[in-house]
Amino acid sequence: MLHTRICDLLAIEHPIISAPMTGRATAELVAAVSAAGGFGLIGGSTGGPEWLREQIRMVRERTDRPFGVGFISSAPGLQALVQVALEERVAAISHSFADPTPYVQAAHAVGVKVLAQVQTVAGAVAAARAGVDVITAQGTEAGGHTGYNGTLPFVPAVIDVAGGIPVVAAGGIADGRGLAAVLMLGAEGAWIGTRFLASREAGGAAWAKTRVVQAGADDTILTQAYDLAQNAPFPADVGGRVLRNAFTARWHGLDDEVVARQQELEAQVLAAEAADDARNAPVYAGNDVGLISSIEPAAKIMHKLVLEAEQILRERPAKLLR
Ligand SMILES: Cc1cc2nc3c(=O)[nH]c(=O)nc-3n(C[C@H](O)[C@H](O)[C@H](O)COP(=O)(O)O)c2cc1C
Repeated sequence: MLHTRICDLLAIEHPIISAPMTGRATAELVAAVSAAGGFGLIGGSTGGPEWLREQIRMVRERTDRPFGVGFISSAPGLQALVQVALEERVAAISHSFADPTPYVQAAHAVGVKVLAQVQTVAGAVAAARAGVDVITAQGTEAGGHTGYNGTLPFVPAVIDVAGGIPVVAAGGIADGRGLAAVLMLGAEGAWIGTRFLASREAGGAAWAKTRVVQAGADDTILTQAYDLAQNAPFPADVGGRVLRNAFTARWHGLDDEVVARQQELEAQVLAAEAADDARNAPVYAGNDVGLISSIEPAAKIMHKLVLEAEQILRERPAKLLR
């Protein structure tokens, strides 16, 4: 059985955290992951504070296992959302895309753990200094918003500066091979988004899930085009990894022009989302889409991830050493 430090820290069975995907990681998915022995994170930046309170309660109706809430901490309205998560005493909150320092003490004061997802070594150093409980090293392979460091070299680089704080790997992990690999790098677990996007319980349109299943490893792109078109609240050193479509073919790399035509393009993206227009609406997904071939229940995804990783770790190292 796989067992790492985050299993003890978060009181979970398997070292797997489901990512707080905005609009996708809703109560149903979080409850399913946590009930299956992982740690589910609600995408806390989706709705307002009352929506979040409702989501937390919905998870509790479905499972008594621990779970948390993750934020886009560079977005407006963060304080009120954090307040709800702390009032509700979720097991952990996660901060991404901003310095977690202002939020650590208040969380710890009420027994809530703090996870920080970072995209740079400098971000990891700041998170360690802030006293977070877990640092998530997010590689550029990740779906959604991410930086430019690859998971393979970035995870050990973060471990080297984490000062003993457990590090979890994110970005490109969709099966037991990826899970086993990041454990071998020294990570204490995997933080997984895209694989759970293609789950029965994830929120979001059916057509978008189908696109994730159909897409291959060559079909994603890390772009600023959607963020600039939508005035999205992310730091400049972060882009959005999406499935390639007509919009990215037309606008990726043309940042100045996108900014100049921002209002027109924002309207176009909003209309595309309303009309399920895959040519222009973004589908945020990671490089690992090529490893995903079906929409499955989250519990089954969990089970397969763990079984496959255990089998690899049991058998492959012995075959490699003479
Ligand atoms: C659809 C989608 C939405 C996401 N939204 C968020 C978010 O709101 N906050 C956050 O911290 N990370 C978000 N992420 C990034 C994840 O936390 C995570 O780093 C990523 O999914 C890991 O890579 P993977 O998709 O290859 O598993 C999102 C990812 C996806 C695919």
